[in-house]
Amino acid sequence: MQLHDIPAAFEAYADGFPAEDMNRLKRDHTRRVAANARAIMDGEAFPPRLRPLGEAAAWLHDLGRFRQYTQYRTFSDRVSVNHALLSCAELLRLGWLDDADAPTRNAILRAIECHNLRDLPPCLPPDELALAHLVRDADKLDIYTVLDHAIETDYLPSHPDVYWGLPLDGPPSPKVLAALERGDSVDYADIASFADFVFIQLAWCNGGLHYRASRRLALERGEVEIRRRYLLTLIPAHAAAVERACAIATEALRR
Ligand SMILES: [Fe+2]
Repeated sequence: MQLHDIPAAFEAYADGFPAEDMNRLKRDHTRRVAANARAIMDGEAFPPRLRPLGEAAAWLHDLGRFRQYTQYRTFSDRVSVNHALLSCAELLRLGWLDDADAPTRNAILRAIECHNLRDLPPCLPPDELALAHLVRDADKLDIYTVLDHAIETDYLPSHPDVYWGLPLDGPPSPKVLAALERGDSVDYADIASFADFVFIQLAWCNGGLHYRASRRLALERGEVEIRRRYLLTLIPAHAAAVERACAIATEALRR
């Protein structure tokens, strides 16, 4: 298979799973991540030789989600399997990269494998690093979009499973706020409320979005302002922390 045939192969593959909400969710997510990846590559003037690889990696990054949900009825890796590794395994089983050369195959698999890690492993070869950053940024930008929609439609109060059953209006964790100030990635073990999920997304603005084009897209889409307004309503007692976090995030996006 050629890389440009992968979007159609993905759609046909997804057709093979039941047309239920969770599968539709992941399919729509994948299409938007691919669109984000294209927008980032445009903004960064990605070298033409890497563009088909970047687009393929975006289409394939969550390939394992369909089997994960079919088998375990959850998208929680903590109680099932690492979906990034499952995506790699599924891709190899399907043989869609069998006609690609080894560096191409490895760069795409690496980007998939690393897309859900807290931090990237050190010393990745340049092409693998470029693709890994691309998929991680494109994925995060869509996670922003998904929360924007959830806020807009008031989806959250009736779906506590999305935030692990944590209190919706609980206070932010001091550890999460400190990591955001430092520009560090956040340890998911420190999450104690839904607000922490939102603060983590603000922390992505400060160090978590690798490409300037990704930061520009987040700024253009008003992602910080959407979170600021939402958090001020959700946890008014922590308004000062919210304003501080949003100021840091906005400044980082403009850098
Ligand atoms: Fe994923």
